[in-house]
Amino acid sequence: MSNGTTNLIGSSKPCQINGPLIVTIVGLPCHGKSLAAHKISRYLFWRGEDVKVFKVEDFVTEETLQNISEWFTTGHNVAIIDGMNLSKQSRNLVANYCRTSVYHHLIVEFNCTEACVEDNIKDTALFYEKLDNNKDWLKKLQERFKKFTPLYEKCSIHEGPLITVNNSENQLLHSVTAHGVQGLLQTFILGVLSSPVIKHRVFYFSRHGESEFNVLGRIGGDADLSDRGRKYADNLAKQLGGPGSSKDSPKPRLIWTSELRRTISTVQNIPGPRATLKDLNEINAGICEGLTYEEIQERFPSEFAWRDQDKLKYRYPHGESYLDLLQRVDGVIQALLLNTDVLVVSHQAVLRCIISYFKGTKPEEIPYINVPLHTLIIVKSYGYDFEIETVPLKVECVDTYRIQPNNCSIERTSADALTTVPAHFDSVPSALIN
Ligand code: F6P
Repeated sequence: MSNGTTNLIGSSKPCQINGPLIVTIVGLPCHGKSLAAHKISRYLFWRGEDVKVFKVEDFVTEETLQNISEWFTTGHNVAIIDGMNLSKQSRNLVANYCRTSVYHHLIVEFNCTEACVEDNIKDTALFYEKLDNNKDWLKKLQERFKKFTPLYEKCSIHEGPLITVNNSENQLLHSVTAHGVQGLLQTFILGVLSSPVIKHRVFYFSRHGESEFNVLGRIGGDADLSDRGRKYADNLAKQLGGPGSSKDSPKPRLIWTSELRRTISTVQNIPGPRATLKDLNEINAGICEGLTYEEIQERFPSEFAWRDQDKLKYRYPHGESYLDLLQRVDGVIQALLLNTDVLVVSHQAVLRCIISYFKGTKPEEIPYINVPLHTLIIVKSYGYDFEIETVPLKVECVDTYRIQPNNCSIERTSADALTTVPAHFDSVPSALIN
């Protein structure tokens, strides 16, 4: 049979289910391709995939394909080609290369309304002007767009699995159409692309104020704030539009906390609509809830050592692992990305998992990100990246950060297991409670 559909299905050798994937992002200049390429890359990396964006100038060369080959032969599994504006011929080069190398291939094509292109051109020009104001970026980008418009050849579903994005920052106007998308990775990408990229965003993150459990070095539970914790709550409110704040201090449009008392009390004096989210609750430490690290070592020394050996994957008996948390906060991150000016007040482990998305932290390093108490973390979008500012609010508190000890063997001594446990009190000093 020679109709187009039969050729399409019959022409390619089946790829290994977990074979490498090349994502080709195509469309005219200023259609949001790079923002999307990096959004996909950030998300897949956060989910533990080995992904890299390959920036090309207008079309793919043999050298690009060579670089992608090297990327795959060194054990990585996703390559995203960003920057292809032009012809079907250039796209076919990638499609043929995927077919002969038996790689998965996904094409993502970007469309945009005229108004959206104009906005994108202005935004991109402003971004580049900050880096180099000796050029007329607006003119340059407008000319580039005009030059390529008549040359662009639209993608057809016969070129391979195809996602078409009608790109807009307005959620109701943004849409995607998918043809032939298959497997988990491509489904993740479809998910990432189905919500718009909001270009200018700012998020505020903080742990709750110091709790009575923090003072004692106890983990989990639902303790109240210590006196110093309440002082931090007042200082945080002062930074974010609450009592005593300056006229121009930022005011969150949404405030999200966990369901636990210490986060809810921390935002008490901050004005704005609030919601408590179960997904922001601290890691469930199962049989170790309410214990100090010293007590865990005493009662469950092997568990304590196993956690030190692989903190990312270790799951507390009847509790959770960092991998579980990453899964749990995925929905929170997706919801955050659709908003701006959101304040999230949560806990040490959960915030590590959320902030790692913006920082681009390797999964195994996530459980060791330092998120100190009494510190406001401000995350702002910067092109396709994020700028992260850490603002300590200078209210004294205990340190709860325990680094990985040198000796993680289950045969280690208690002294070795406890070398990195941060200092804490054995009872709450009366000076720290009302
Ligand atoms: O110590 C405060 C705390 O939020 C505990 O409730 C929680 O178990 C712990 O931090 C998580 O940090 P880590 O994973 O480093 O033990």
